[in-house]
Amino acid sequence: MTKTVGNWIDGREIESASGETFETLNPATGELIARVASADAADVERAVESSRRAFEGEWGQMEPVDRGRALRRLGDLVSGHLEELAQLDTQDSGKPIYDTRCADLPEAIGILEWFSGMPDRIRGATVATGSGAFAYTRREPFGVVAGIIPWNFPLDNAVIKMAPALACGNCIILKPAEQTPLSAMRLAKLCQEAGIPDGVVNIVNGMGPTAGAALVSHPGVDKVSFTGSVEVGKLVMEAAAKNMRPVTMELGGKSANIIFADADLDLAAPGSVYGMFLNQGQVCTAGTRLLVQRACLDRVLDQVTSHARNIRVGDPRDEKTRLGSLVSTEQLERVKNYVALGLEEGAQLVMGGTPPRDASLTQGSFYLPTIFENVRSDMRIAREEIFGPVLSIIPFEDEAEAVRIANDTVYGLAAAVWTRDVRRAHRVAHALQAGIVWVNAYYAGSAASSFTPYKQSGLGYEAGPEVVSDYMRLKSVWVDLAASPNTWGI
Ligand code: NAI
Ligand code: MG
Repeated sequence: MTKTVGNWIDGREIESASGETFETLNPATGELIARVASADAADVERAVESSRRAFEGEWGQMEPVDRGRALRRLGDLVSGHLEELAQLDTQDSGKPIYDTRCADLPEAIGILEWFSGMPDRIRGATVATGSGAFAYTRREPFGVVAGIIPWNFPLDNAVIKMAPALACGNCIILKPAEQTPLSAMRLAKLCQEAGIPDGVVNIVNGMGPTAGAALVSHPGVDKVSFTGSVEVGKLVMEAAAKNMRPVTMELGGKSANIIFADADLDLAAPGSVYGMFLNQGQVCTAGTRLLVQRACLDRVLDQVTSHARNIRVGDPRDEKTRLGSLVSTEQLERVKNYVALGLEEGAQLVMGGTPPRDASLTQGSFYLPTIFENVRSDMRIAREEIFGPVLSIIPFEDEAEAVRIANDTVYGLAAAVWTRDVRRAHRVAHALQAGIVWVNAYYAGSAASSFTPYKQSGLGYEAGPEVVSDYMRLKSVWVDLAASPNTWGI
């Protein structure tokens, strides 16, 4: 019997009101894993009512320090269920077990730990006044937050939305990606075990245009937080605008990873391969444009291709695998189309460009690490988000040209620079129009470090203490102390 999975509303797993379901597959094998409740407006209605009740009930009255304790218990429970959650995400998304076990789960736990310390550190301010008044500001949770998330880091994306929302005292309704609903459902059950009151975390599963759209346009939702494509991000913003709701947007990228000739190439080359091919290249901050100074182009090309050839492509359940399956046949088609386009545009294929020939992988959505050289910044493969294992190498002469090419994009999520020259490192870091800049590293960071994306890559904060300005409103209270309020002379 195929497993069935519901929605999670008010502390219970329930079918959708319509009885409709959709299938979630293991993309590495094509096998059906579960039939999942497909929510629509009726289920969203239930979820919003439940969240509102929870917000106005126990959760809203709780001492901040107790909210923190609940998040800490949740972190401990995720830690205790690390293997189970890692297996769920690997099965549902095709990503290697090495990554889910050693990166995704530890990251989720780190985020919960960091935010567990936040609730009782939230502060307002005392406003300067004359002696006749006392004025202060206080931060208040919005209420019900809608979190719409993608499939590339299923559990981490759920936690990145949930932890700041809850730390700030909100309730959250999550709509996981339809490709990867399983780990968020497990997480919701762990929330209950952690003592987070029912209704504080609700999950509606289903398709974007039905479940997602109903959620982000519901007038009972006070704040919308979205991660996904720029196209859908704009639709979500429009829907939120109709109710004048604030949004947080974490969207796409076409990040530049810049290697100068003075860099330590023994670190830059493997670091860049990691920065490109982690998670089959399905990362919003992936270093998909490798900008290489001409003076070291041949050496970098050699080293990068030799490291990329060493990436073990295969069964995601095998601990040695570093490149698993793409998330879906749709995503595989997208990658194939972009590779064909790159060839048409005149880029030179250095390696990859096909699915692996290994007979054991033909049922899955696998694709080899692929590298194009002689890519120009005006080619579509250098401008559009491919979201697969496809690297474009673009040569440059000097620092000014590197910065110009790096910033020649509608995106502005992340970038990296590899150099031994400390002045250049900071000059370039400051000149790059990207929310995150790594120096001599890729994908480094923690829940403490916050950023705002540039350009079409998004809006707002998801990490660090700055989230209070995204997940809470600021109220101003003015108290008369002089018994002389303005009575308008009447
Ligand atoms: P998507 O943006 O369609 O999906 C993200 C989430 O939004 C999913 O939960 C989906 O169900 C939901 N959604 C879709 N339409 C909606 C609507 N009208 N209202 C509310 N929610 C809606 O991304 P998709 O189709 O999975 O991937 C397409 C491309 O988007 C990828 O190839 C990649 O380029 C980009 N992408 C970027 C991500 C990022 O982290 N920046 C993550 C996923 C995809
Ligand atoms: Mg799946």
